[in-house]
Amino acid sequence: MGNSHATTIATAPFADQRPGTSGLRKKVQVFEQRHYLENFIQSIFDALDGYQDATLVVGGDGRFYNREAIQKILKIAAANGVGRIVIGQSGILSTPAASALIRSLKAFGGIVLSASHNPGGPHGDFGIKYNVANGGPAPEKVTEAIYARTREITSFKIVESQDVDIDRLGETMIGDMRVHVVDSVANYQALMQTLFDFDRIRDAFRSGLTLKFDAMSAVTGPYARVLFEKELGARPGSVINAIPLPDFGGHHPDPNLVYAKHLYDLAMSDAAPDLCAASDGDGDRNLIIGRSRFVTPSDSLAILAANATIAPGYRRGIAGIARSMPTSGAADRVAERLGVPLYETPTGWKYFGNLLDAGLVTICGEESAGAGSDHVREKDGLWAVLFWLDILAARKESVDAIVRQHWTTYGRNYYSRHDYEEVASDGAHALIEALRNQLPSLEGQCFGALQVAKADDFAYHDPVDGSDSKHQGLRVIFTDGSRIVYRLSGTGTAGATLRVYIECFEPDPARQYMETQAALADLITLSRDLAEIERYTQRAAPSVIT
Ligand code: G1P
Ligand code: ZN
Repeated sequence: MGNSHATTIATAPFADQRPGTSGLRKKVQVFEQRHYLENFIQSIFDALDGYQDATLVVGGDGRFYNREAIQKILKIAAANGVGRIVIGQSGILSTPAASALIRSLKAFGGIVLSASHNPGGPHGDFGIKYNVANGGPAPEKVTEAIYARTREITSFKIVESQDVDIDRLGETMIGDMRVHVVDSVANYQALMQTLFDFDRIRDAFRSGLTLKFDAMSAVTGPYARVLFEKELGARPGSVINAIPLPDFGGHHPDPNLVYAKHLYDLAMSDAAPDLCAASDGDGDRNLIIGRSRFVTPSDSLAILAANATIAPGYRRGIAGIARSMPTSGAADRVAERLGVPLYETPTGWKYFGNLLDAGLVTICGEESAGAGSDHVREKDGLWAVLFWLDILAARKESVDAIVRQHWTTYGRNYYSRHDYEEVASDGAHALIEALRNQLPSLEGQCFGALQVAKADDFAYHDPVDGSDSKHQGLRVIFTDGSRIVYRLSGTGTAGATLRVYIECFEPDPARQYMETQAALADLITLSRDLAEIERYTQRAAPSVIT
């Protein structure tokens, strides 16, 4: 069967196919509209050049619609002349594993099917993200070209053929295109073995180190079983909710203190293992909780960077650290002490890509439970857990002791994010607009003991490609280094979500053990007053505090 079997089918554009921070993310029902997915996939091919006869990687987090989407993508790819598609078995590839595979195969790019930490199932969310040859999310000029194409599309090409058996390993053909179904875990596992000291971690488990990893019925289950239980010898049952389910078992696969509260409770109990950890729907986020010690993602980034040379993959030291602007300044202090540069980027992993490609940074992270390094071009949940395990195995100290020692050395950044989820979009935009206009007048003003040093609308100049990104969050920075940041989420699928990030710095070890919300109380009140949050959103309090 050749591409002569490709049919051209007439279609009409949808107006809402602009990819956001993490690709095109919509309710499943939106994707189920006739030709919705086909249009978007064809628009990807129309916007790209040079994929003919090349290799593309395809996989997803196993959520509802993953399998249907993959079959359609295979047929459209074949009709468009793609040479080969490499798919994770049963359509499963975690986002970092997809990134790793694109890089290992020197593929042209990849299509990652996921809505990350958003709920799945027929009433949940679905998403499509295009990644480029470096393994990272497509840069804005590519996603904008795809979007532009979606506005003009009049037809798509598809090969009429049987579905491919994506559960069976091996090669088949669809049209003139080869389809290669590969083990979802093997390539990723091999990469992890080059970064961390598996023998050392194995010894630590043998000597009694304990772990509870919650895969949240999402994509990391198969990876975690192989890595933690089979390879490293963690006790059977260390990995829970290990089977990826189309609806994630009805849970919200977001590893934060709200949706993974059971892990937090376990970590605070007498039965606490040494490390409790979790990842999200597509495996790029991480949650780290030691026995009686939650590690904020911002602190985790700083601690991994400070201890990086423990791990074989980073033994020679790190070139630099990058963090998203709203992420706490804890990593800045580590970078300063190490004498390496610290880059502050807009929210979203794609902004790290150029810095990593250029070798300017080795480790990067975001306050939203994302950390990673130059080993792939996505954040990587299991990488963070393995990194912590390697540090625990090498230092033979508890998570709590490591965190406390870090604060004594570097000072503590108290940090919290307050989310006002699914508020009316108009009100949320009006709030940002009003606050933006007010920023210049805030500089120099005093609020109780706090004085505003600087208030601005964060803009980023990419030092590698020279591009500029404006309006990336409103910052109010105080003279003592405290900070309030406001921005609207770019990943929600209903209404708008206002995120408020609140931070203060405490160098005095005697004052580093307050409850976070109490330590930040004055700033929290001020954050609500300054932006008149209740007036604009009709919400007196946030819906999620992390
Ligand atoms: C959120 C996080 C951001 C992360 C993104 C994708 O985006 O805040 O750090 O990169 O999810 O995981 P937001 O909804 O804030 O735009
Ligand atoms: Zn994710």
